[in-house]
Parts: sequence; structure tokens; C-alpha cells
Amino acid sequence: MPESITITDNRTGETIEVPIVDGAIDGAAWSKLLKGVWFYDPSFSTTAAAESAITELDGENGILRYRGYPIEQLAEHSTYLEVAYLLIFGELPLPAELAAWTHEITTHTYVHDNFRRKLFDPYHYDAHPMGLLTSSVAGMSTFYPDAKNIDDAGVRTEQMVRLIAKIPTLAAAAYRFSVGMPYVFPDNDLDYATNFLAMMFKVAEPGFECPPALSKALDVLFILHADHEQNCSTTAARVVGSSHADPYSTVAAACAALYGPRHGGANEAVLRMLDEIGSIDNVEPFVDAVKEGKGRLMGFGHRVYKNFDPRATIIKKAAYDVFEHTGKNPLLDIALTLEEVALADDYFVSRKLYPNVDFYSGLIYEALGFPTNIFTVLFAIPRTAGWLSHWNEMLEQGSRIARPRQVYAGPAVRDYVPISQR
Ligand code: ACO
Repeated sequence: MPESITITDNRTGETIEVPIVDGAIDGAAWSKLLKGVWFYDPSFSTTAAAESAITELDGENGILRYRGYPIEQLAEHSTYLEVAYLLIFGELPLPAELAAWTHEITTHTYVHDNFRRKLFDPYHYDAHPMGLLTSSVAGMSTFYPDAKNIDDAGVRTEQMVRLIAKIPTLAAAAYRFSVGMPYVFPDNDLDYATNFLAMMFKVAEPGFECPPALSKALDVLFILHADHEQNCSTTAARVVGSSHADPYSTVAAACAALYGPRHGGANEAVLRMLDEIGSIDNVEPFVDAVKEGKGRLMGFGHRVYKNFDPRATIIKKAAYDVFEHTGKNPLLDIALTLEEVALADDYFVSRKLYPNVDFYSGLIYEALGFPTNIFTVLFAIPRTAGWLSHWNEMLEQGSRIARPRQVYAGPAVRDYVPISQR
């Protein structure tokens, strides 16, 4: 059977055969027949805007793979920095490559001293850390004007190293600013996750103590959040990057997209929701209210997953590992009951709404001592590797600028009326 579809334009009787390649219809072939007739797809639900070899996501079967490697295996055996290398360069590194990559990241964690000292001076003390992070990432572009040379693969790699290395430094500074604590310098003797925890929570010299199981749990969360193909923030990065903006401006745009409660802001919203529910007795009335259209069950549902989000399954297990050290988060029982009630309810079952990555991640973050308003920042740190790998891939492919069409629905042409005659 041919891998194609045949379309007839009933207005003209003209017929065209459009090939299906890798499950997609070539928009250019389609537009030859239907010149000036656009797909109306405002949320891109049926539009593949990219060809990518980075992440494979099968939402019907709950499958997520980075460069072919199942997320479950990476979470169990790999580290975030190794995964970042895999996402960007396409292969798992050899020992020497991983050592060099880790060294490069570790030695680029400092930000320019001008920037460090005055970073957030103009902001209110209660500024949301995600707003601080977004603006500081954009601000970094002014320190690295060479980053504009996006056609040079070496320059691109240098900026990717800088961004992955510095984003935890900026994120921790955003938090310290919000609690009135002095910024902590990066410690090059620590691994990526532990260094971030130290910059967040270190109070005094000499050092920062953290059970390895807790930094390992954070590293696993970083792996799970590292990429998720063409999600809202990655699409924002691709659209901005397609104009050949520098990578700092590109990643700042992605941070802005991630901030929203429908995307990376959902983990913060989950905790607020669990707090609001307050006790197991309130779970059923809360679910009833959601079914009546009074709000959404945050941490549930996904545009692509119509089955369990595989990341949610790994995170749920990681939560128990963390609670062994920190004690159980009191909101866990509410979350478990909420999940049980929702998964037994036809409203959620018929709409294929399952827990997503955000449903349990906030409980771990809270147990690790992170305040709720930093949760989205904890998502932005690892997703930086994903955003950059897509940005780099897009530039390697020599893409055109993103410029969708619209369906015009405004008034027909009319003459200007002077203000005195309106
Ligand atoms: N609670 C209750 N009902 C929901 C939920 C939810 N969390 N999610 C979707 N629905 C319902 C909608 O009301 C709609 O019902 P209807 O058909 O009767 O109108 C149906 O399910 C389909 O919903 P859509 O909004 O069309 O689904 P969409 O794919 O556009 O949205 C989204 C996906 C944004 C993730 C949505 O499920 C949601 O808002 N979830 C809560 C926020 C959340 O957890 N976001 C994190 C996503 S993961 C991530 O970004 C990392």
C-alpha cells in the first residue's frame, strides 16, 4: 500500500498525491495544491514543526527516550551532566569525553563579578525567582557578544557550556536574593547537583553537608526534566532561535514560556493545590469541584501523554527514597488519595488524564527544603540542556525563520473616519 494520501479539491476537481514520510505530511507538497489555504492549528496539536533526532516520545504508550535510550535506564544509571552531553552531541560520552565535559562545565560556573554583585539590585525583595532567572539569563547575552556568531559550531558549544554551567549559579542567586542571604560562590570540588544545593542552602563556612542520596535524587530529577521534545518552552526557544537571536536571549524566551502554570509552573501550582485541599477528607469535594469546571487538577493531564507519564512513575519512587532521609512530606497522603480518586473517576479516565511529571516532583522539592516559588526554577536548570540541544540541532539543519500563517477574521476593508465624525 503506498505511503501517501490522495486529496481532491472539489472546487476544481484537481487531485494531488501527497507522500507520508515518517508519519508526517510534507506541508510544501500540500500547499502546491491548496495555495493560500492554511491549516488552522493554533495550539500546534497536529503540526510537526521540526524534524528532530533528540527525544522520542510516544504518549499513547507512555514511552520517553533520549537519543534512543529509555528514560528509566538513564535515571537509574546516568548522571545529569552525562545526559546533557548525550542530548547535545547525540552519543553517550567516552570516559575522557565525559571528564573533559564535566571539567568544562565545572570551570564555567562563575558569573562576571559586575553581574554577581549587582545582579538583582533593581528588583523588589519579593520578586519571583523565575522572573529574576529569566531576566538574568537574557542579561548574560550582553557579557558574551561573541555568542551572536551562531554559525560557528565552536562558539555554539562554548555558549552551551556557559549556560549549563551558570544557570544553577543564577538560580541559586535568585533564591538567596529573595530570602536576603548573601550569594554563595560555586564550589568546583562538588558535583553539579551538590554544588547547586550548596549555593542554595550553605549558611556559613567551612562547608556544606548533604547526604549523597539527596543530591542523587536531585540529579535524577534533573535527568527526567532535561528534555521533552517540542513542548511549549522548547518551541519558544526554537521560534526565537530561528531569528538567529543569540542563545542567551533564546533560553530567556524559553524560561518565560516555562514560567506559566500550564507548563513548568504546574509543580508550584500542585503544592498550592495540595495545601489548599489540606486534608484527605477534602479530596473528594475538591475533585467534584474540578469536575464542575471550578479549576483544574494540577499535575494531571498532558497534551501528548494519554497514558501514565513515565517520568511521574520514576519520580513517585524517588519521592520515597528521599522521604527515608527527610521524613515523609505530610502532603504525600493527600496526593496519593487524590491520585487514587481521580484515576477511579470516569471524568479523568474518559479524558485520559493521568499524573504528569509535576504531580510528585513538588513533594520531593519541598522535602529537600526548596520553597515553593523556586520549583519552576528547578525545572529550568536541567531543561536548559534540552533547549540548547534543540537550538543547536535547528541551526545545524539550516532552518528557515519560524513564521506561521494566520486565518484573518477581522473586518473587510473600510475607510478611515475622522474622530469628529465617529
Ligand atoms: N484537570 C481537570 N480537567 C482537565 C485537566 C486537569 N488537569 N486537564 C485537562 N482537563 C480536561 C479539560 O477540561 C478538557 O475537558 P473537556 O473536553 O470536557 O472540555 C479535556 O480535559 C482536554 O483538555 P485540554 O485543555 O484540551 O487539554 P490540553 O492538551 O490543551 O492541555 C494541559 C494539556 C495544559 C497539560 C492540561 O491537561 C492542564 O492544564 N493540566 C494541568 C496543568 C499541568 O499539570 N501542567 C503540566 C503539564 S506537564 C509540563 O508542562 C511539564
